[in-house]
Amino acid sequence: MHFLITGGSGFIGSAFAKRLLSLGHHVTIFDDKPLEQSFRLEPIKNQISYKQIDFTKLSALKSEVVGFDVVAHFYFRANTSVKDPNDDFEKSMLSTFNLLESIRANKIKKIVFLSGAAVYGNPSVFPTSETYGPLTPVSLYGAFKISSEALLSAYSALFDIDVLVFRLGNVVGPHMTRGIIFDLIKKLKNNFDFVEILGNGEQIKDFIYLDDCIDGILHVLNNSKEKFSLFNLSSGTTISVNDIAKIVKQEMNLAHITNRYSNSELGWVGDVQKVHFDISKIRQFGWSPKFDSKQAIVSATKDLL
Ligand SMILES: NC(=O)c1ccc[n+]([C@@H]2O[C@H](COP(=O)([O-])OP(=O)(O)OC[C@H]3O[C@@H](n4cnc5c(N)ncnc54)[C@H](O)[C@@H]3O)[C@@H](O)[C@H]2O)c1
Repeated sequence: MHFLITGGSGFIGSAFAKRLLSLGHHVTIFDDKPLEQSFRLEPIKNQISYKQIDFTKLSALKSEVVGFDVVAHFYFRANTSVKDPNDDFEKSMLSTFNLLESIRANKIKKIVFLSGAAVYGNPSVFPTSETYGPLTPVSLYGAFKISSEALLSAYSALFDIDVLVFRLGNVVGPHMTRGIIFDLIKKLKNNFDFVEILGNGEQIKDFIYLDDCIDGILHVLNNSKEKFSLFNLSSGTTISVNDIAKIVKQEMNLAHITNRYSNSELGWVGDVQKVHFDISKIRQFGWSPKFDSKQAIVSATKDLL
């Protein structure tokens, strides 16, 4: 099959591309970076087609999104801020809308979309299942993700497109360039007096190891017969920020370094105190993670060191 991966030079997209190639599929990547800057694609650059593309320009995009069996839509503005919502809107929502318009125009029949825990905001039920509602995100990122899910649902119903949506936990693994493990390692390499923790360290999150994430996506892709499927995809287990810091320090033989906390309870504007996914739906569908959150953190720390 021929897959188009948008944002395919990113952390998850590049791993997905490598797995698809190993399974004998053809891969085309559209990303906003030039290929030369995509260090994760270096080992496979001669086996893929690659185009640097601006997703905010519909007419140009329409002429490019042609002839694919599956579109894996992975690009999205991850670090939305409160400073420039219009730019975030263009890079996330408008880009998603333009991609859907291109898919409709060119009669492409399948799309995979990566959503996230941010759509749940601060839920009152844990573990949180796909049926939880109302969905009240507390970040622009979460708002644009839930809006994108809604658009995908309507396009699926109106234009006969198969849609798979995955609400991911925190994905960790090799070649990460942001996120808590990357951040802690960087800080610990530069300062031996203390390590700064964003928030009070008691935030609790649900992690999934990158290989598990790719396995889960492929399992559903190969087996789902629904027009519109939506799954939580994570380990369904949790770990606190303090325990993550402990593991990273142990792996770096720096267990004696003390934590220093920022003044706020949460790590950043739009952060949430607790994420814990109910993954019984995807388990019943025949997929289970190999790693729990702790194992994912230990492995990803080793990957990055
Ligand atoms: N990594 C996680 O823990 C996590 C959790 C939940 C959901 N997701 C979702 O999974 C997807 C992939 O995440 P990732 O961690 O690989 O992110 P990433 O930032 O590593 O990769 C995203 C890629 O998309 C490209 N990109 C961003 N905006 C673009 C635009 N407007 N036009 C074209 N290209 C653009 C970037 O250059 C980058 O290569 C994203 O949609 C993200 O929101 C990730």
